[in-house]
Amino acid sequence: MNVIRGGARAISIEVPSRTNGRDARRGEPSVSPLLERQHAANITTRRLSPSDSLQELTTLLHRAYAKQVAMGLQPLAGRQSADITEKRVFSGECYVAVDHLPLDDGRTKQKLVGTILFHESEESKGPPWFEKKEVASFSQLAVDPDYQGCGIGRMLLEIVERRAVEEGAKELGLSMAEPDRELYDFYIRRGYRFVEHWKWPYTNYRSAILSKTLK
Ligand SMILES: CC(C)(COP(=O)(O)OP(=O)(O)OC[C@H]1O[C@@H](n2cnc3c(N)ncnc32)[C@H](O)[C@@H]1OP(=O)(O)O)[C@@H](O)C(=O)NCCC(=O)NCCS
Repeated sequence: MNVIRGGARAISIEVPSRTNGRDARRGEPSVSPLLERQHAANITTRRLSPSDSLQELTTLLHRAYAKQVAMGLQPLAGRQSADITEKRVFSGECYVAVDHLPLDDGRTKQKLVGTILFHESEESKGPPWFEKKEVASFSQLAVDPDYQGCGIGRMLLEIVERRAVEEGAKELGLSMAEPDRELYDFYIRRGYRFVEHWKWPYTNYRSAILSKTLK
């Protein structure tokens, strides 16, 4: 059991029985140092602050989206410069998950390990679903690959789902690379459903627009 602190709340989660995407149930060896680190992690979530490094955030995005890039996809978050990151995060509400790494002098250093962007305002025309008054949206969800699979993605989703309810939205939409079926399944398990297709001008794939009805 791993305790991850989400803002004011402490969330207890099961650390999965696999690491680095490998499944111990299939008899493959587990990577114990990573699992140890996940057990020791003290992750909190908060709004992005002006003292956070946009280069660090950009590197986190590139690391997280490297899997899609390896699939031949060209997501903007997988290749954007820090300047583009800056423009995007300040067009909406950006949240981050941070790990508190102990330093030799007893202090801690905050490391950005996850992020999500609520209500990004895009220059490009967006999908019709996002234009509906009752629909809020999020983008740029990413978790550092070393920290994936221990509930940080779920925590970040909970933040934007809560924010969408606070804003009076009835639906929370997102755009994802349609060919990434693992990602599609991840959202379906969290109550999202397919709504429509969309093609952004800056990607080389068709996107799937998913949405969740908020309670
Ligand atoms: C999608 C993403 C944010 C999920 O983050 P996460 O912190 O791994 O999410 P969680 O730990 O809450 O849940 C991950 C799920 O996949 C499983 N999983 C994924 N990667 C895993 C890994 N490396 N090890 C173990 N389990 C893993 C978890 O068990 C969990 O299963 P569940 O859906 O049955 O609960 C992360 O994989 C990511 O950054 N992907 C690349 C960027 C991306 O595609 N973003 C979305 C754009 S729309």
